[in-house]
Amino acid sequence: RLKTSLNKIISTAPASATKDATRVEFDGFEKLFSRFLLEGVDQSSIDWQEIRPLPEGTVIPYKKLITADLSDAKELLSKLIVVKLNGGLGTTMGCQGPKSVISVRNDLTFLDLTIQQLEHLNRQYDCDVPLVLMNSFNTHEETEKVVEKYSHVSVKIYNFNQSKYPRVDRETLLPIATSMTNSDNECWYPPGHGDVYQAFYNSGLLDQFIQQGKEYMFLSNIDNLGASVDLYILKHLLTDAVKHEFIMEVTDKTRADVKGGTLIEYEGKLRLLEIAQVPKENVDEFKSVSKFRIFNTNNLWINLPAIKRVVEDQSLHMEIIVNLKSLDKGFNVIQLETASGAAIKSFEGAQGINVPRRRFLPVKTTSDLLLVMSNLFTIHRGILVMNQQRSFPSVPLVKLATSFNKVKDFLSRFQSIPDCLELDSLTVSGDVTFGKGVSLRGTVIIIANHGDRIDIPTGAILENKIISGNLRI
Ligand code: UTP
Repeated sequence: RLKTSLNKIISTAPASATKDATRVEFDGFEKLFSRFLLEGVDQSSIDWQEIRPLPEGTVIPYKKLITADLSDAKELLSKLIVVKLNGGLGTTMGCQGPKSVISVRNDLTFLDLTIQQLEHLNRQYDCDVPLVLMNSFNTHEETEKVVEKYSHVSVKIYNFNQSKYPRVDRETLLPIATSMTNSDNECWYPPGHGDVYQAFYNSGLLDQFIQQGKEYMFLSNIDNLGASVDLYILKHLLTDAVKHEFIMEVTDKTRADVKGGTLIEYEGKLRLLEIAQVPKENVDEFKSVSKFRIFNTNNLWINLPAIKRVVEDQSLHMEIIVNLKSLDKGFNVIQLETASGAAIKSFEGAQGINVPRRRFLPVKTTSDLLLVMSNLFTIHRGILVMNQQRSFPSVPLVKLATSFNKVKDFLSRFQSIPDCLELDSLTVSGDVTFGKGVSLRGTVIIIANHGDRIDIPTGAILENKIISGNLRI
């Protein structure tokens, strides 16, 4: 019935080219869905007893790489392409359109900063590293428009679209869309960033880059401002005695990252373990910072011919993430997704590199935005660099109230971004606003009770302070 229903949808695609492309895409969907039906929901959970300690050399410290000679940087860079995952929307931060077009620093967007970084790199080494954006049907139109303004820069930009899969009704297990022209976006979804391998292959770009002699892609989330091209890692990939088809950058876990995926040795392979795969009784152990010390930054370096091989011989395997949703129109749907890091087990010579925290600077919420907009960072060649005047290497823990969730509201609540150089942690709850030139130091907690409002006056210095209603301690 699923096949008949998919065929019916395909038959409504407008032009034959679109029909063929849709057929290829739906094949991918059918495979994923059949796997889900066959293996069941528990297919991705793990046998806890089978987890083995990581063998020597499977996760190496970044500092082991930094003695390398980089005089051949230009040649190394000639083998590289940079791919950014750009399928996501800015809805969590209350923005419409692609997340990558949100301004994060000095009116520059994620996309602007990425392009600036590559422009500098290409100029400095007289090379031609291209930027490839993986868009989704949610983001491609606006992204293509936005990148037009970069036609004059010295970075070639390529776009390709990830797949568009139909959402499936939880009861009938059939797509809720009835036709391709069903323009209601609620009927469709982008199936996670694990789709990058197949979608890149389908786009024809993978073959094109292999023919040009490119060997590796550096793949990362566009919202990770720390994910810049690293020459030491590239050198390691291209010169190490062992061929690494896949490298995952991991970093030390802190209590704030307990939910991040970690690397384990399982059935003789390096594998990404996500919290969703952990049996309930082992979740606390998974979250412990002492047992699983590292987590995935999703900065991945992957060999291009190896991608071609695993796609063509169908050996690419990623655990299915089952995402249950309730739509506005009352439908309860299932969408099946995969994550790019989970592909690590399908590649030979996979390795983790334990990188400094600065390579993981994601902006998921406006609390993150406060940090990257503040004086904790300076910008150098499109890369955010921690201000040297900060005496500790880590960023403060920030938790803003829900009234700050949308970028627009966040901006209206700060007359200017406070000085955060000496801040350890900030918690804001309720209706709070900040005047100009406020300085936050140590641990600051501001709680406006329901119905109250707290306005932090211009020029205030709050050092190790709890402010609650009219009570000041
Ligand atoms: P998310 O923001 O959704 O993921 O996407 P996350 O919270 O980091 O968690 P993981 O990594 O999924 O575990 C991360 C990046 O992937 C892109 C987003 O645009 C973002 O840059 N993405 C996500 C896609 O390109 N396609 C998708 O289907 C999902």
